[in-house]
Amino acid sequence: MTNAEYEKTIDTTDEWIVSRTGIRERRHLDIGTNNSDMAAAAGRQALQMAGVKPEEIDLVIVGTVTPDYLLPSTACVVQEKLGLTSAVGFDIVAACTGFINGLSIGNSFIQTGQYKKALIIGSEHLTSITNFKDRGTCVLFGDAAGAVVLEPTTEDVGILSTYLRSDGRMRELLWIPVGGSKTPYTREYAYDGTNKVTMNGSEVFKVAVREMGKAADKVIKEAGLDYSDISLFVPHQANIRIIEAMAKRMHLSMDKVVLNIERYGNTSAGSVPLALDEANRTGRIKPGDNIVMVAFGGGLIWGAAAVRF
Ligand code: ACO
Repeated sequence: MTNAEYEKTIDTTDEWIVSRTGIRERRHLDIGTNNSDMAAAAGRQALQMAGVKPEEIDLVIVGTVTPDYLLPSTACVVQEKLGLTSAVGFDIVAACTGFINGLSIGNSFIQTGQYKKALIIGSEHLTSITNFKDRGTCVLFGDAAGAVVLEPTTEDVGILSTYLRSDGRMRELLWIPVGGSKTPYTREYAYDGTNKVTMNGSEVFKVAVREMGKAADKVIKEAGLDYSDISLFVPHQANIRIIEAMAKRMHLSMDKVVLNIERYGNTSAGSVPLALDEANRTGRIKPGDNIVMVAFGGGLIWGAAAVRF
């Protein structure tokens, strides 16, 4: 979906969208394709890349706020689709940091020895909770999924440090007011947009810049590294101006920052693993490179991970 498509249905322009967000296109799932289909496709590709058989996976975590069903978890649906016959699956509801939360939890389980091979997926059918009449949000969102396989190693590589935080006092800056058990969805809410994502964009913007920068600082320090040791930053792709402001705060050159927001928009939990995968497949990541992933989303919640490839 190009910006020109949105110009036809809401009061917006390509110029406004590009200059305020950096977004030119985003992808929408086909009707009839579900979040679990996209999550399973990403999971399948990750298993192939890792050379791991489905039955070897003993833990599958899906970060998502757009599950196929309220019950069961999307991870259980993905488990069936991929034939992960030896695994336990569950979802993480952590908005745009869902993948980083999943990575951190998977890492902790593997470090305890409880699980040996984990499939961590960030997958979001964000257009299913988008209000296409709200120009302040609808131009931002797209659908995407990405995945990684985690396993124990004795080599000096892998997840070096993670940091997760949230502040529920700011939960109404970015939320879906209707549709949960507190205010179940009924027909009276059908046209007022309250069962879709509602956001105070400018407030979220400020907190995102501040907290993503702090989260990156934390994981770099915790890993015993310095900014000069980091080859690549993989930030959540919410808005080019948030990423640029964060890079400025951290005195980072933009050529060390992975950017793909132009083609996908904000894909919530899909965003970081999608950007990571593109950077990896295009050869931007070399063995031994230190990478920092950082994300921010509705909760408000934020987190980061430092990883050596
Ligand atoms: N086209 C044209 N004008 C628009 C559009 C649009 N698509 N959207 C908003 N405007 C207008 C507003 O109505 C407003 O007009 P007004 O001054 O007449 O009232 C004006 O543009 C400025 O609006 P702001 O909201 O102040 O614009 P801002 O520069 O803050 O940009 C944006 C808005 C892009 C949403 C930005 O605030 C942002 O990216 N915020 C952070 C979003 C984010 O990171 N979310 C977290 C992750 S999402 C998740 O967890 C699912």
